[in-house]
Amino acid sequence: MRHEPRKRILVVDDEEYICKIIVESLGEENFDIASFTDPREALDYIAANPVDLALTDLVMGQYSGLNILEATLENHPDAIVILMTAHPTVQTAISVLKKGAYDFLVKPFKLELLSATIKRGLAHQKIARDNLSLKGQLEFLKVANAFFGSGLDLDKYLRLVLRSCNTELSARASAVFEIDPKDGSTIRRVHEAVDDAEADAVLDESLIDQFRGSRSSAPAITTEPVEVDGRQKSRILISQPIMIRKRLQGVINVLTVFRSDQIPHGRLDVLSILSNSAASAIANQNLYTDLKRSYLQAIRALASAIEARDVYTAGHTDRVTRLAEQVALFLGWDERRIQTLQVGCTLHDIGKIGVPDAILSKTDRLTEAERKQMNKHPQLGLKIIRGVDLLRPAIPYLASHHERFDGGGYPRGLRGDEIPIEGRVLAVADTFDAIMSDRPYRKGAPVAIAIKELMDNRGTQFDPEIVDAFMEVLRTHKVDLQALYGREEDLSCLDDIPVRQETAPAQTTVPG
Ligand SMILES: [Fe+2]
Repeated sequence: MRHEPRKRILVVDDEEYICKIIVESLGEENFDIASFTDPREALDYIAANPVDLALTDLVMGQYSGLNILEATLENHPDAIVILMTAHPTVQTAISVLKKGAYDFLVKPFKLELLSATIKRGLAHQKIARDNLSLKGQLEFLKVANAFFGSGLDLDKYLRLVLRSCNTELSARASAVFEIDPKDGSTIRRVHEAVDDAEADAVLDESLIDQFRGSRSSAPAITTEPVEVDGRQKSRILISQPIMIRKRLQGVINVLTVFRSDQIPHGRLDVLSILSNSAASAIANQNLYTDLKRSYLQAIRALASAIEARDVYTAGHTDRVTRLAEQVALFLGWDERRIQTLQVGCTLHDIGKIGVPDAILSKTDRLTEAERKQMNKHPQLGLKIIRGVDLLRPAIPYLASHHERFDGGGYPRGLRGDEIPIEGRVLAVADTFDAIMSDRPYRKGAPVAIAIKELMDNRGTQFDPEIVDAFMEVLRTHKVDLQALYGREEDLSCLDDIPVRQETAPAQTTVPG
């Protein structure tokens, strides 16, 4: 449990005997007390030292207790200030309370009343400080909620954590490093700067070194005096290690400027809460990544099992994935969507696992009944992945890669934009590879034939915009046909293909 530090009490009264009585009376309590009869000395003290509670006379020669009140609250915003005066008026009382004083004592007063007022003030302060910690926890809940709402986007989440750090610690800039616990290398770096000129300080990777080999989660704090707008302040760099199971897995650096070198109460607690939330997010992300990797390994194993059964499709899913990926990049899809595409393309024919071997490996033309059986593979695939939440985004690939743009495909006979774009992209890549690949009874066709097939069916079987995108992918050599098909291909036929072409008459091509 955290040890509560002694409260620092300031007493200011130009009458020495009053200072003495108060200090003696409070001496019985567990306080650190500083008392001044000269308000100027008190002002210097306030600027340079932490103050939890100030007790000040209102009228002190040319100085007013209001000067002490203002200086205390400016330097220590959560301090409690109690004014004392022998000449009270309602107007004065209202005025000092409006300026932020906590209470107002009329001289002469009993020492019991003074003690009770101070205790009440400090209790009020504790509630306010606890509220600040609570606010930090609420901030954590807010960003945690956003994390799950953002689909476990760790960068986005860490950015929210840093924004909270900047707000809660009045920081100029903050950064978080995620470290690979195996070799200590930096695997992720995110920063948020209110002032871009300060970003370099928090992005200094050497700050991580002070925590290497340590199991402590205590922050490291360095301060240096700076002059801001003609006033002496402290530039404070706080580095908070992020520990997961006692191992260093990251560091949050926060750069802030305070009036003194003391970090206001509660702020480090808020940073600790936020770093814990970053640690949880990183741990969750790692678990999620491991889980996803395991799933993908299982999926690949399953896809290989299908390819082993289907003599037509050796290496097909891998090539189709690479082709579709390039089309998606051309279309400007983001990384997350491309990752889904990889899963979807890998799995697209997984339903063939439910198609009998005799049909899958038949080299002759399929009978009508066999064709019907074969055409069930999209729905069979959906049955296999249904119930696995992680694979849900792959559904459009499985469900719609045999739909036709003109509505003549299967299983649902969707038309045009009714077909998810994932299915429209995959249909083009799937057909291209089916024509290009070697089959047991024939060699793969030259690329000119595959291109002609896509162009002939542009607008009927295939979405014309996706065919155009595919042609651009080929034209710009985004796919290495030599690596995919093991032969030199002549792409000169693309020179005759305009970017846009009228819809050609329908011809059906059925990929495997
Ligand atoms: Fe298929």
